[in-house]
Amino acid sequence: MTPSLQPVHDRLQRPLQDLRLSVIDRCNFRCSYCMPAEVFGPDYAFLPQAQLMSVEEMQRLVRAMVELGVTKLRLTGGEPLLRRDIVEIVRSLAGVEGLEDIALTTNGIRLQRLAQNLRDAGLQRINVSLDALDPDLFKLMSGGRSGLRQVLDGIDAAQGVGLEVKVNAVIEAGVNESEVLPLARYFRERGICLRFIEYMDTGNSNGWGESKVVPSKVLRGWIDRERPLEPVPPQSPGEVARRYRYRDSEVEVGFISSVSEPFCGNCVRARVSAEGKLFTCLFASEGADVRYLLKEDVKHSERVEAFAALWQRRKDRYSELRSALIRRGEVHSKVEMSYIGG
Ligand code: GTP
Ligand code: 5AD
Ligand code: SF4
Ligand code: SF4
Repeated sequence: MTPSLQPVHDRLQRPLQDLRLSVIDRCNFRCSYCMPAEVFGPDYAFLPQAQLMSVEEMQRLVRAMVELGVTKLRLTGGEPLLRRDIVEIVRSLAGVEGLEDIALTTNGIRLQRLAQNLRDAGLQRINVSLDALDPDLFKLMSGGRSGLRQVLDGIDAAQGVGLEVKVNAVIEAGVNESEVLPLARYFRERGICLRFIEYMDTGNSNGWGESKVVPSKVLRGWIDRERPLEPVPPQSPGEVARRYRYRDSEVEVGFISSVSEPFCGNCVRARVSAEGKLFTCLFASEGADVRYLLKEDVKHSERVEAFAALWQRRKDRYSELRSALIRRGEVHSKVEMSYIGG
């Protein structure tokens, strides 16, 4: 049955269109900007396996969200490919009527062996995080992990099975700036869109400071000087990346500039953690526990109404307020990115 549509808007007139669903809060990397090893050590309290949402609960969640206007779904982590039933999750969610786009964000380590099964299960797109092509810098950025070859092979495999692939790179001032041009050249040659994400003050443990951010404008200048770029108009208003194209090819490069050019005005994303808490901002301190709504005996219409009410209450715009909050010393405690999936 085609779902009936009851689009909702928040207090700033932003519709609900994208759902980012975290399927697990664990990761096999310890990127310093996300899960610094000093904080996310052996004693860190990750969610117990039994507390993670089941495939059925996720399906009920997505069905209700679709009715409120969600057309795009992205599966995230931690590292989503660590979930043993990830292919089953994709298969079950890709079958939800009304969903137009289903994608996943991964560090790529397990991608090579899973790419074909994910594709067969209905996955359309995949975004792989990669901050360096130099093995030593790769290790430094990923918190001492090796596996650069595996990630590159994973990207090739994903492309080979027909997934639309993008690569995300975080550049930290004074650490991996030397990787900007090599990354740009490598992915340009392969026809893959590379996006640079400004280092953000997510969570409470990554030691963020403005001095660690390399503004997108600077990165764009470096690339443009080597290979001239031209802007590409956005495909949809909710897009987070500013898109550019190399003038002499069809290949794009993007910039996600949440620090230097916040995009809260167009933010159409809801985020749900692996244990079923709904967050209306990446920088929120708390989420609403919606797990009880995902039980089998709760009526679908009750679920839809509850999600609508949560969205209608929303007025988050942290990135636009960041500087003022920091200046006034009013930054609250924030959810960790690895828990909510970025
Ligand atoms: P596409 O549909 O492929 O464009 O996906 P995406 O860019 O939304 O997904 P991806 O997981 O690759 O996102 C890249 C990064 O952009 C995220 O991990 C965040 O760092 C950042 N990002 C995405 N959405 C938001 C947002 O709503 N607010 C902020 N501040 N950053 C965001
Ligand atoms: N700042 C910017 N990007 C981050 N990511 C994780 N933490 C941060 C941060 N503090 C990125 C990852 C991945 C995506 C999910 O979010 O590199 O590409
Ligand atoms: Fe893991 Fe991604 Fe966080 Fe790195 S950024 S620690 S790969 S979840
Ligand atoms: Fe959306 Fe919050 Fe990011 Fe602004 S800071 S774009 S409201 S997630």
